[in-house]
Amino acid sequence: MNTEKTLILVKPDGVRRGLIGEVISRIEAKGYNIDAIRMLKADRTLLEQHYAEHIGKGFYEALVEFMMSGPIVAIVASGNRVIEGFRSLSGVTDPTLAAPGTIRGDLARDQGTKVVQNIVHGSDSPESAAREIHIFFP
Ligand code: RTP
Ligand code: MG
Repeated sequence: MNTEKTLILVKPDGVRRGLIGEVISRIEAKGYNIDAIRMLKADRTLLEQHYAEHIGKGFYEALVEFMMSGPIVAIVASGNRVIEGFRSLSGVTDPTLAAPGTIRGDLARDQGTKVVQNIVHGSDSPESAAREIHIFFP
């Protein structure tokens, strides 16, 4: 068996709305393992590393401001194909288009804010997962 790890974040909107437990429940209900969990307030330096691929994009500054707007929860989850599996549990980036049944589809909506607020982050590849886990769990 090829056990994989992914980095999941409950973003400030998810924490503010009391959805930490809901996100963890969905991870556990799917059968993935929670290996590590940590609550923190991300600073700009940490977010620059985490969102390095987005530096220079139009939504970057708004994304960083949003991610610094309150505490977040960082989770390492593991299981066979967990990277793909958690992306599937999350739904697509735009919560208006995310399918019902997904975290974003069930729990988020477009509120017309500068950057889309969509409750969770999940690593998108094994390379991103390794990099991101190291940032949040050095
Ligand atoms: P994430 O990294 O948070 O799991 O989300 P994702 O892969 O679905 O989306 P990504 O393209 O990596 O974008 C990261 C986060 O930036 C915000 N975003 N806003 N056009 C926009 O307004 C826009 N595009 C991206 C979202 O918060 C997205 O989750
Ligand atoms: Mg992404």
